[in-house]
Amino acid sequence: MKNISDAEISSLQNELYKNRIIILKNQDISDEAYCNFATRFGTPIPYLQENYHHPKFPLIFVSSNVKKDGKQIGVPRTGGYWHSDTSFEKEPKVLTMLLPKVLPATAKRTTKFIDMNAVYKALPKNLLKEIEGEEFIHSGRWKYKIRPEDAGIDISEMLEMIDFYAPPVSHPAILEHPYTKEKIVYGTRGFTIGIKNKTLDDSQRILTEIFDFAETDQFIKEVTWSLGDLIIWDNRFLAHCSGRKKAITENIHEDVKKEEETMMYRITLKDAFPLCASQLHENVNALQN
Ligand SMILES: [Fe+2]
Repeated sequence: MKNISDAEISSLQNELYKNRIIILKNQDISDEAYCNFATRFGTPIPYLQENYHHPKFPLIFVSSNVKKDGKQIGVPRTGGYWHSDTSFEKEPKVLTMLLPKVLPATAKRTTKFIDMNAVYKALPKNLLKEIEGEEFIHSGRWKYKIRPEDAGIDISEMLEMIDFYAPPVSHPAILEHPYTKEKIVYGTRGFTIGIKNKTLDDSQRILTEIFDFAETDQFIKEVTWSLGDLIIWDNRFLAHCSGRKKAITENIHEDVKKEEETMMYRITLKDAFPLCASQLHENVNALQN
């Protein structure tokens, strides 16, 4: 990893855009080397909330239910719903790297992916017509993780606070990938909360139909994690969902306590391109003017 050449990095990037995801096996790297590799691969950007950061390497977002000396490390139970990392930001980080540090001893740890280009190509024509030229509205508000310091704040205040710091954003419903020029439905059940200029009812109906169509065995591919895997994927193409079980019974705290330890180190990055090809043209126009 340390000795990887610029040419090898370019070829990995090419593979990534072609395959949507690449898995580098048997990586035994330090946290520092992981950050250095990310910096060579793209432009890593720390997550907007500091409680997710690795204490020494803020580029690393720690998803973990591990406790050390009684203290929670990172943030537990992240990503158990379909989403595209940071799509609720004005300039989403389009690439994600993920490196497992602790995996469950007995159960398998998996992540599920959906290729939203395959969804675009298979989407019923009437549904496609409803979203062509439209913009989806994205927000992380419903997935906000309550922190200890949030105790005492009611839900409405909390939603106002989230919208103040991370207001909803809109992105094209259909992206043209800036590198491969393929078309992609850029929306997920976790973060897409509406369609601009459509009524709430119409938005909900159309989005539900799209997600019900996409979240099926026809499109879902599951990756099982092994220690030493370093996975990189393109968030434009892929929606993903962590394979962890949801605790939806009245014994929710018991279910959470019973979960085996797991810790994943995530780095999100920008690459050399904007989110979609149309912005590529905008950038060129801006330079020419
Ligand atoms: Fe994620």
